[in-house]
Amino acid sequence: MPTPIIIDCDPGHDDVFAIWLAAGNPDIDLLAVTTVSGNGYLEHTTRNARVACTVAGVTGVPVAAGAERPLMRQAAPATWIHGDNALGGPDLPEPTVPLDPRTAVQLISDIVREAPVPVTLVPTGPLTNIATFVLAEPALAAKVREIVWMGGSTGRGNVGAYPEFNAWSDPEAADIVVRSGIPFTMVGLNITHQALVTDEVIEGVRAIGNRTALFGAELLRFFSASYQAVEGIPGPLHDPVAVAIVIDRTVATSVHARLDIETKGTETAGATCVDLHNMLRREPNAQIAMELDVERFWSLVKDSVRALA
Ligand code: RIB
Ligand code: CA
Repeated sequence: MPTPIIIDCDPGHDDVFAIWLAAGNPDIDLLAVTTVSGNGYLEHTTRNARVACTVAGVTGVPVAAGAERPLMRQAAPATWIHGDNALGGPDLPEPTVPLDPRTAVQLISDIVREAPVPVTLVPTGPLTNIATFVLAEPALAAKVREIVWMGGSTGRGNVGAYPEFNAWSDPEAADIVVRSGIPFTMVGLNITHQALVTDEVIEGVRAIGNRTALFGAELLRFFSASYQAVEGIPGPLHDPVAVAIVIDRTVATSVHARLDIETKGTETAGATCVDLHNMLRREPNAQIAMELDVERFWSLVKDSVRALA
């Protein structure tokens, strides 16, 4: 029985691969894609989600737009990695996948309400939409199977010293979602930096040879070059790691630990405070993904790309 999921994302190069990994894997039933401001402004992340589905031939999966900005802060796109349109690199085709008229929260609510089995939410951007859903629909939120979020870090961040971008973009939303009581898995930079987009990875994707692979290889080349320029490393393909964990829990190790979100710090707002040694004697409240089976991960990504258009 495939696992029903909704991806809430801010495409973003790695978000595109999260959508493709889900859409192309037989153990996932991708029920919807919802978008949020993050890597780019909402108009870009939403168009990019539709482009991702158009290129890969993903049809019948509703795409709905969500929050234009964080709950209490201004939108601050990560143009230094993803470019001005949040999907730098290839020329983008006109999307043929339509935009659902509902908002992201309306679509998530409708799906969770009608689903015959509990739905897994896989946010790969700031948690603005998920927090809004949790606040607006507490009874529906209680029906959610779990949240597996690409965000945070057990170590240093990638925006300033400590915050990771998705958490930094909307710390208040992350705090609301972590406190919601919905079973929560954090897939942070500490594990996603094990999924590096090397030249070998790019060539492995390109060699698949279909439309998705050729477009995807251009995305990976741009994404990795951005990371090389900014952080001096090949790009870590963050977001599909969260989907891979939903597909196969054995693709990563995890620990049950206490997670708290810093929302007040001048320099640290958005820091994900993971008490790995339970120093504060607080109740553990999250699964923290730690070690990735890198070979299995890339195999899952390529199998999905191969299965798409
Ligand atoms: O920090 C990495 C995360 O921020 C990824 O989800 C990337 O797409 C951006 O949203
Ligand atoms: Ca993302």
